Amino acid sequence: MKLRGKIALVTGAGSGIGAASSVAFAREGARVAVANRTLAKAESVVRAIEAEGGRAIALRADVSLSADVQRMIDRTIAAYGVPDILFNNAGVSPSGRVTDISEADWDDCLNIDLKSVFLAARCLIPPMIEAGGGVILNTAGTFGIRAARNKAAYSVAKAGVINLTRSIALDYARDGIRCNAICPGYVDTPLNDSFPPPARDAFLEVYQPLPGLIGAEAIAEMALYLASDAASMITGGVFVLDGGQQAGLYA
Ligand SMILES: NC(=O)c1ccc[n+]([C@@H]2O[C@H](COP(=O)([O-])OP(=O)(O)OC[C@H]3O[C@@H](n4cnc5c(N)ncnc54)[C@H](O)[C@@H]3O)[C@@H](O)[C@H]2O)c1
Repeated sequence: MKLRGKIALVTGAGSGIGAASSVAFAREGARVAVANRTLAKAESVVRAIEAEGGRAIALRADVSLSADVQRMIDRTIAAYGVPDILFNNAGVSPSGRVTDISEADWDDCLNIDLKSVFLAARCLIPPMIEAGGGVILNTAGTFGIRAARNKAAYSVAKAGVINLTRSIALDYARDGIRCNAICPGYVDTPLNDSFPPPARDAFLEVYQPLPGLIGAEAIAEMALYLASDAASMITGGVFVLDGGQQAGLYA
């Protein structure tokens, strides 16, 4: 068991990558706080974990709001103790060029995808240090490495997540905190429901060299490794899992 005795807090854990990671962490022995904006989705992930004999609690939190983030962390500490692992994974992915996207959608994306990482890290790092250290994982994305057309706010937010990851890694390495970013390419999750199979397949044909779809479980495997002691010398890293998308311009 790679996470025996560990406590993990996962955001955006009601579906997709967060849900798969919560299940994977619990299977490896962690007690998991499953946080999501919609409580019902978090509760169904908790039921799936409990059905396998794992331990988890469901928390409702909008990670863009500092009061919600504080409450989410307080409730995790009250239930299990200070998390050893914080997985900042919640995100939204609005489309639009600079001249298309509304100011409200811009703020929403930057607050949910980027400010949330700052809020949770700011809140949890002091108790983590006091408890002897911990691991912070952030879901960025390949669009944070290279921008994508029609994805201005999202590309900016994910680029910010990458350098915030590095900042946290540098600033707290001597305090026992590791911080890494995961950059998925196209992952088959509800986030991409608006991208129907014909358009999706045409996109993958052009941009993803390896054939096939990346599932949330593949990202969860990477998160599990980075959260575990096997990665004890890895911090400030940006880990791409994209079927080769970033290797070149076209597949
Ligand atoms: N699916 C992809 O192709 C892909 C690619 C790169 C990066 N990502 C990133 O992976 C992360 C997880 O996305 P996913 O693909 O699993 O999608 P998803 O839609 O299945 O999961 C996102 C979850 O975040 C939750 N959420 C949204 N706003 C929230 C908020 N304000 N507070 C708390 N929870 C909130 C949603 O309810 C949902 O459960 C996101 O950060 C996303 O940007 C996804």
